[in-house]
Amino acid sequence: MRRTAMALAASTASVSLAACGVIDGVGGGSSSASPKKGDDITVGLLLPEKENPRYDKFDYPIIRDQVRSLTHDKGRVVYANADADKTKQNEQLDQMIADKVDVLLLDAVDAKAIAPGVQKAKDAGIPVIAYDRLAQGPIDAYISFDNELVGQVQGRALIEALDGKAGTGKVVMMNGSVTDPNAAQFKAGALSELQGKVNIVKSYDTKDWKPENAKANMEQAIRSVGLSAIAGVYSANDGMAGAVIDALKEAGASKVPPVTGQDASLDAVQRIVAGEQYMSVYKSYPQEANNAAEMAVSKVQGRSIEFDALTRDKVDSPTQKKIPSMLMPVVALKTDNIKETVIQDGFYTVEDICTAKYKAACAVIGLK
Ligand code: GAL
Repeated sequence: MRRTAMALAASTASVSLAACGVIDGVGGGSSSASPKKGDDITVGLLLPEKENPRYDKFDYPIIRDQVRSLTHDKGRVVYANADADKTKQNEQLDQMIADKVDVLLLDAVDAKAIAPGVQKAKDAGIPVIAYDRLAQGPIDAYISFDNELVGQVQGRALIEALDGKAGTGKVVMMNGSVTDPNAAQFKAGALSELQGKVNIVKSYDTKDWKPENAKANMEQAIRSVGLSAIAGVYSANDGMAGAVIDALKEAGASKVPPVTGQDASLDAVQRIVAGEQYMSVYKSYPQEANNAAEMAVSKVQGRSIEFDALTRDKVDSPTQKKIPSMLMPVVALKTDNIKETVIQDGFYTVEDICTAKYKAACAVIGLK
């Protein structure tokens, strides 16, 4: 895992730095003008929730290790998870400001509600880098995936899965939390593919991205639309996809209609193998986390050439224009590319996926 993660980061950094003609900076050396700090730095990391396994399994440990490796083991990460509670995240942010961390990586529970905290950090001279979700307020940089593309990839896959039934097929949309700006982008991307091609009969925004809320909404949709009339479900992520599939099965579905997802979580990959979930969206968390760590360290150390090379995209938030950003691509994850994605990048081994329950299904798709 770590080796792959490092390799990905190294390749991104060397391409961009080579383009600028400065190569020697990555280890905390002397590549650019008047560094502000040395290696003895503290990065504050604020992540939004635990429902989705990505945060504790990938984001936090990868960022922690990359910060260490970029600072000759002298730098450290202090991590707080908000459990989907915006008030708690504001308190965690306040605490990090009080503790005088050197830089913040912030994945907001609620992009708007955290803005005053971002302003406080700014006033205290602490740079804030928005991680994965674009927080409002005066942030210094942003790193994420191309979130509109995520929705497009999901929408396209659903159309493909509906095959002949697109056009007449009734589709239910299970979108993410309204407090997460990514959710709006996933939805917009998906709608750009689905509108006019399928019949969207129900659309829900899911409070806090919680599977239990998605399940209750799906049960309501089944009651009102009728189980047999539902041709497919757009689910914005894997956690909700699992809940949607449970609701469909509990209502008596013998064959589950196509359901989308996102995040390549292990149970979703297993459902894909078993033919219960049509697809997920594969996002390279190692790439996002490693680049974020590099951004944070280069920002604190005042290595502006490296920082600029990492933030060549420009993104607007409702409160700020032209935020220096890095947006990364994503791919659809289906039965035919499990090896080239989650296995090759060290997310899971074949053994992790093909447990006793899934052995036969793995054999059918040639996963061994
Ligand atoms: C999004 C994030 C996804 C997923 C989702 C639900 O903001 O980009 O990867 O984690 O939140 O938690």
